[in-house]
Amino acid sequence: MRILLTGCLGQLGQELRQRLLAHGRLYATDHNTPADEHQVFSLDLTDRGALLRILDKLQPDLIINTAAWTAVDAAETEQGPANAINVVVPQILAEWAAANQALLFHYSTDYVFDGTNTLPWYEDDSVGPVSVYGQSKLDGENAIINSGCKHIIIRTSWVYSSHSKNFVRTMLQLAVSRDQLQVVDDQRGCPTLAENVALVTIEILKRLQLAEGKDLSGVYHYTDDQPLAWCEFAERIFSRAHEIGLIESIPEVIAVDSSVFQTPAKRPLYSVLNCEKIERVFGIQQKSFSSALDDCLAGIQRNHSEDLS
Ligand SMILES: NC(=O)c1ccc[n+]([C@@H]2O[C@H](COP(=O)([O-])OP(=O)(O)OC[C@H]3O[C@@H](n4cnc5c(N)ncnc54)[C@H](OP(=O)(O)O)[C@@H]3O)[C@@H](O)[C@H]2O)c1
Repeated sequence: MRILLTGCLGQLGQELRQRLLAHGRLYATDHNTPADEHQVFSLDLTDRGALLRILDKLQPDLIINTAAWTAVDAAETEQGPANAINVVVPQILAEWAAANQALLFHYSTDYVFDGTNTLPWYEDDSVGPVSVYGQSKLDGENAIINSGCKHIIIRTSWVYSSHSKNFVRTMLQLAVSRDQLQVVDDQRGCPTLAENVALVTIEILKRLQLAEGKDLSGVYHYTDDQPLAWCEFAERIFSRAHEIGLIESIPEVIAVDSSVFQTPAKRPLYSVLNCEKIERVFGIQQKSFSSALDDCLAGIQRNHSEDLS
């Protein structure tokens, strides 16, 4: 199998890269590739001509598209570039996949929902993004579905990892210099380790191979298993990081309403995703948030603790 992985230097892309090597001939790409990174080729996916040339040359059977515009606030003022990568690129990949019988894996977000539910969102619940980012991810999903290609779209939420820029690493960096932190208490979702989304992706690939051509295309929700408010997430990070000696002291977390932080983009207040479908179809159960956080913090302690000073 020939596999094209996009966004391979991002949070999820990094977790997928090594794991995909066992599954075929891997071509990994990103757009700001460091000079010493010889296994990755540089490509701006929004260069339509270049993208189509690469697809025609590599002829992937499987395209795994983790590349995205993920800067939620910046998308409010940078709608054009956000749509270029979150809508137009998935559309090009999907149309190519449809014409060439390739399978497209793609990732989307809890931010396609408006956040007004009080129970976890099902895949076919009404969508209603409240931000440009959420709308762009929804439009990307629809472009894929409308192309008619074989696809798996995984909606996930609040992704973090031991590397890259994310909430866990930001909290740990702040813990070094602050005794007190204000953190939002009125947005609830499920923090999800990027590695677990990668493991779920590999698991689905194996199940699809066993399904022998049966088309299981669709949107699936996957998150780790613990709904939390951002302030509760921060408390869990500090408590475990302190226990393992990653931070010297625990800052006081002051729970505040999201109106205290005037961000350009609105966020859904309740974006917990129901993950029954992925279990029913692929036998995939939600992984433990506690273990995931421990793994992430251990990874930071092992490889990235100098970033916190
Ligand atoms: N992060 C979250 O909390 C979250 C939550 C729900 C869903 N998701 C979805 O999960 C997927 C993976 O997210 P992630 O956190 O791994 O994202 P990420 O860390 O931001 O990685 C995205 C990658 O795409 C690359 N990219 C952006 N524009 C590109 C372009 N024009 N050409 C080539 N590469 C480009 C980025 O490169 P640069 O960094 O150099 O721009 C980056 O390496 C995305 O679809 C995202 O929408 C994420």
